[in-house]
Amino acid sequence: MAKKENLITGVDIGSHAVKVCQLQKTGKGYSLLAVGSAALPPGSVEDGVLQDPEEVGRTVAALFRNLKIKNNRVGISISGYSVIVKKINLEVMSEEELHEYITSEAEQYIPFDIDDVYLDFEDLHTATDEEDRTDIMLVAAKKEVIDDYLEMLQEQKLKPVLVDVDGFALENIWEITSQQQENVALVDIGASKMNINIIADGASVLARDIVVGSDQLTEQIANSLGIEYEEAEKIKLGLIPVEEENREELEEIFTQTCTQWVLEIKKAIDLYVANNPDQPLKRLILSGGGSKVAGLRDFIASETGLEVISFNPFADMKVNEKKIDRAYLDAIAPEMAIAAGLAIRPAEF
Ligand SMILES: Nc1ncnc2c1ncn2[C@@H]1O[C@H](COP(=O)(O)OP(=O)(O)OP(=O)(O)O)[C@@H](O)[C@H]1O
Ligand SMILES: [Mg+2]
Repeated sequence: MAKKENLITGVDIGSHAVKVCQLQKTGKGYSLLAVGSAALPPGSVEDGVLQDPEEVGRTVAALFRNLKIKNNRVGISISGYSVIVKKINLEVMSEEELHEYITSEAEQYIPFDIDDVYLDFEDLHTATDEEDRTDIMLVAAKKEVIDDYLEMLQEQKLKPVLVDVDGFALENIWEITSQQQENVALVDIGASKMNINIIADGASVLARDIVVGSDQLTEQIANSLGIEYEEAEKIKLGLIPVEEENREELEEIFTQTCTQWVLEIKKAIDLYVANNPDQPLKRLILSGGGSKVAGLRDFIASETGLEVISFNPFADMKVNEKKIDRAYLDAIAPEMAIAAGLAIRPAEF
């Protein structure tokens, strides 16, 4: 069992909310120690960039206090235009040779100035007896964007020990909790972006971020009914009743937006199927707050022909039910997936 001091708290900073999760490895599985989320003021995080670090820092710190989390080691993830993930194919090399090659040649693979980015890579070891080449996953992230996150956390006396990418964290939590090696599409629909990650044979073969999300619904509701954002958000979530005369208009907004989301999902799946005709997808795994739109799951299932499931990363975990309410947990589980993926990383340092 991991010692408590070694735990990493996963901190997923989205454009709508900060999500925090703490897991502990037990004999066979995992135990959920702490979980929670706190909304951010609109505009404090945009396109994966911290626009208001003080506000975000305060929100993170308040969440840690409320959840009584004492460990200060945290893992975060990034997404958006400031991070580029690219699979490249290279001759097989040793780890050192690879390091040297990537440091000197990365410029040709990424559209950023090499001095402005942090580079990371992973050998996917796809070489075979006949093929002396291997796929390498290359990640480049803008230093200034990452540094803002690190500084914000340090200001709150937190110690960032892991910087991951949203899509990888999602892949990780799915693979560990499902213990499946089946080919799946992971789809996370947040407030301002949708992340699609198709996994085949245990590796990501297609990953993309698309700028659509549940905020679109709120904005359209606000515009079309001529009301404030906050009220529109409540209508969207069904927290306040809809006037009869607006019902049709609202249905139209939901239908149009969800249709657009599904088209994006289908585009990615079609591309995957065209390139991998012999590796059919088994299921589509939905996460993110936006995936909770009523009826969306069935709509995606009927449009893609795939079995669609709502991801609950905690389904098989031990949960202290005195501290964490099951009904609350089940309700927030889909949007906690990335935070859980950060918390489940082995703490090596
Ligand atoms: N039942 C629901 N129906 C529609 N939208 C919902 C529902 N529940 C939550 N949401 C929306 O989900 C969004 C929050 O989800 P999430 O926490 O995954 O986003 P985020 O990670 O902050 O955003 P992003 O990853 O896009 O930056 C909000 O826009 C919220 O209104
Ligand atoms: Mg998110």
